[in-house]
Order: sequence, then structure tokens, then C-alpha cells
Amino acid sequence: MPSTKDVTSTQPRRHTLTMTDRQQVATRLLASSAKKSYDPNVEIDWAAPVPTHLFGLTPEWSTLYGTAMWDEMSLEQQVTLTKHEVASISGTGIWFEMILMQMLVRDMYGRDASAPHFQFALTEIADECRHSVMFARASEKFGCPAYRPNRPMIALGRIFAATASGAVAYGGTLFAEEILDVMQREFMKDERVQPVTRTVSKIHVLEEARHIRFAREEAVRRVEHLNKVQRARVRVLLAGAAYAVATNLVGPQVYAAAGLDVKRAVAAAKANEHYQAKLRQGASKTMEFLTDLDLIGGPSRLALRRAHLL
Ligand SMILES: [Fe+2]
Ligand SMILES: [Fe+2]
Repeated sequence: MPSTKDVTSTQPRRHTLTMTDRQQVATRLLASSAKKSYDPNVEIDWAAPVPTHLFGLTPEWSTLYGTAMWDEMSLEQQVTLTKHEVASISGTGIWFEMILMQMLVRDMYGRDASAPHFQFALTEIADECRHSVMFARASEKFGCPAYRPNRPMIALGRIFAATASGAVAYGGTLFAEEILDVMQREFMKDERVQPVTRTVSKIHVLEEARHIRFAREEAVRRVEHLNKVQRARVRVLLAGAAYAVATNLVGPQVYAAAGLDVKRAVAAAKANEHYQAKLRQGASKTMEFLTDLDLIGGPSRLALRRAHLL
């Protein structure tokens, strides 16, 4: 049963939200998705040729942008690298969306199907289904393999998908969705970027805005009744999830595809301060929000700093 308690009345939380909002918010989100949802199979011109001079993603988001290696590369190599980088990010996106879909199904299981909240959660799952197919097709279109995180990460994701709930599930979702949101807002406006990437990004940004809203509101609700020990546990799990997402966005195989020395490229990307700043920029809204909820702090900050999210 929804309570009428204002969950953000205690300082220093700044995000205004009341428990009674849950069904109202879901009703608005449902109305918004009825008005603006896209079928990527129809919306994207999949038959159009891939221009040879356009980047796969905004070059400033390349893991090597700003390094000596980037300057040494030919334009053709830079284009190839960024196509593979966007394919790798898409593969991580699919991986995360498949985890999220499982968490949402588990969270809604057995709940009142007549509630707008239930119906929006299922609408979100349907969105993620279309997104994952869209990411897969875009990567295929660029002639890239189906990149995915390494096997230990796949195994960890399987456990997370089967067990994460509450603030961990929704807070973790925010990290993944907001980093992608920040970069895709740049991709969709960038004339140097492939039309397929731009349309994919536009569709994703638009539909994810609702998911981000949903995840934020749920995170606020789920954090309210945590005791000190539970909160500490959430902090650790959240930092771990954020670390996994941030460090697995782009896999090492992309460098070989661009004809680069993989060892050298991995080292250059790892030390790339420009890319680290982009990651921090991508995570900043989530960091601020989760800090307000007192879900960032203690030893977990170390992992976040190592992942260049703080
Ligand atoms: Fe998505
Ligand atoms: Fe989403």
C-alpha cells in the first residue's frame, strides 16, 4: 500500500517526491509512451549505405581521443575505431538491458496488473526489447561483431540479474542509463557521426528519459526504509555495478579491428584523462542524485574513483 509520507522531507535530500506519486507518475509515463514511442525496425533506414567518412560516435567520446595514438591514426582508422567502439558500447547496452529486463520482471511478479505502475514497468521491458534489437542491428550494419563483456562479467551479470532488487536494482540502472543518455545526446546532434548512430541515439534518449524518471522515483522509495547495515550493503553493491558498467563499455577487441596494437591501445585508453573526464561527466547526474539519497560514501567511493566516475 502506498504511504503518504514525504520521503524527501529529511535533509539533505533535495529531490522532491512523495510516496503517493507512484501511480500518478506511472500514469503520466504511460501517456507519454503512448504518444512518443518508436519502432526502430521502421524508423531507421536500414537499407541506406554507410558513409565512409563519418564517425561511429562523437570522436571526443572515443577511448583514445586526446592521446598520441589518436593523432597517429589515419582518418579511416579513426572512423573504423569509432564504429567498433559504438558497437561495443551497444553490446554492453544489450547486456545491461537484458539484466534490467530480468530485474523488472522479478520486481513486478505477482503484483496488481491493473496498477499503472505495473503497466509502465512492462512497457519499459517492451522498450528495452526493441532497444536491444536496435543496438544489435546497428552494430551489424557497421559490419561489427556482436561485442559483449568478457565471460567473468557475463557470469557476474547473471547473478546480479537474478538477485538485485530495490535500491541496488534501480540505482544500478541509473548509472547505466544516464551514462548512455549523456553520450547519446551528443551523438544525436553531431553531424560528423553516422546517421544510423544518430537515429538510434535519438530514439534511445527519448524513450530512456521515461526509464530514468521511473528508476529515480523507485530508488527514492526503496531507500527509505533501509537501516544502516542495509544502506552500507547497497552502497557497496551499487559501486560494484557502476564499476562494472564503466569499465566494460568498450572492450579491447575494438583496437584490433582498427589495426592498432591492442596492448598499447588498452594502456593508452586506460591512462586517457580526456576519456576519464567524459565518464565523470556522464555519471555526474547519477552521482549527485545518489549522494542526495546517501547511497554514495564510505569505502565504495574508492571503486567509483577507480572507475573514474567520481
Ligand atoms: Fe534502453
Ligand atoms: Fe532503459
